[in-house]
Amino acid sequence: MKFFLDSAKIDEIDKAYKCYGIDGVTTNPRHIQNSGKPFLEAITDIANWIKANDLVGMEKFPVSVEINPHLDKAEDMVKEAKKISGICENFVIKIPCTLEGLKAAKELEENGIRTNVTLVFSPSQAIQAARIGAKYVSPFVGWKEANGEDARAYMETISNIYHAKGYPTEIIGAAIRTGREISVMAELDIDIITCGLAVMEDSFTHPYTKHGLGIFCDAWDNTKGN
Ligand code: E4P
Repeated sequence: MKFFLDSAKIDEIDKAYKCYGIDGVTTNPRHIQNSGKPFLEAITDIANWIKANDLVGMEKFPVSVEINPHLDKAEDMVKEAKKISGICENFVIKIPCTLEGLKAAKELEENGIRTNVTLVFSPSQAIQAARIGAKYVSPFVGWKEANGEDARAYMETISNIYHAKGYPTEIIGAAIRTGREISVMAELDIDIITCGLAVMEDSFTHPYTKHGLGIFCDAWDNTKGN
C-alpha cells in the first residue's frame, strides 16, 4: 500500500518524503489555504520542489491538484485542468464526482491528462470514476466516519467491486484520520492512503512504546555495573 501526504506545505512534503518515504502528495483547496499562499504560488512551489528533488515524472511522484471548486461546467473544468497540468507533468487533476465533473474527467483522460475523481461517497460513484478511466478515485474515509457511517463496509464494497471487475483505477483511501483506519485500508487491499503529517507520524508510535522505553531505561540505569 502506497502512502501519500495530504498537504500543500513544502516543509511538510519535504520532511515526509525525506524521513518517511512517501509516494506522492494530494492537495485540496483547504490544504492550499493552510499553506498560506495563493493557489498558483502554492502549486508552483510544489512543482519547483519536485524538480529540485529530481522527481519529475508522474510515475515517480504524483501530486494531485484540485480545480477551482466553483467551476460547475465540464468545459470550464477541462480548461482549468489543462492550465494546471501544463505547470508540471507530475500533476494529476482532482475533479469532483458530479455529472459535469465526470464528463470533464472523461474528456481529460481521453486527452492524456490524468485525473483523480474526488469527493466520492458512494460505491456507484466509485464505479463511474473507474468507467471513465480515472487514474485515481478518492473515497473519503474520515468524512464518512465523522458522519457516523460505516467507512469500513463502504471501502470493502468498493475494493471488492474493483478487484472483481479488474478496474485499473487506483483507490485512494482519502482523509485518513487514524492509525486504525490505515490498518483497515491495508486489510481491505486499498492501493493508497492519504493523510496529514500528524496522522502519518502518529502511526509510527504507540503510547506503550514510550511507556515501555521508560521501564527499560529504569532497568538499564538500575542494572549493576552500567
Ligand atoms: C485528499 O484527497 C484528501 O484526503 C481529501 O481531499 C480530504 O482531505 P481533508 O479532509 O483532510 O481536507
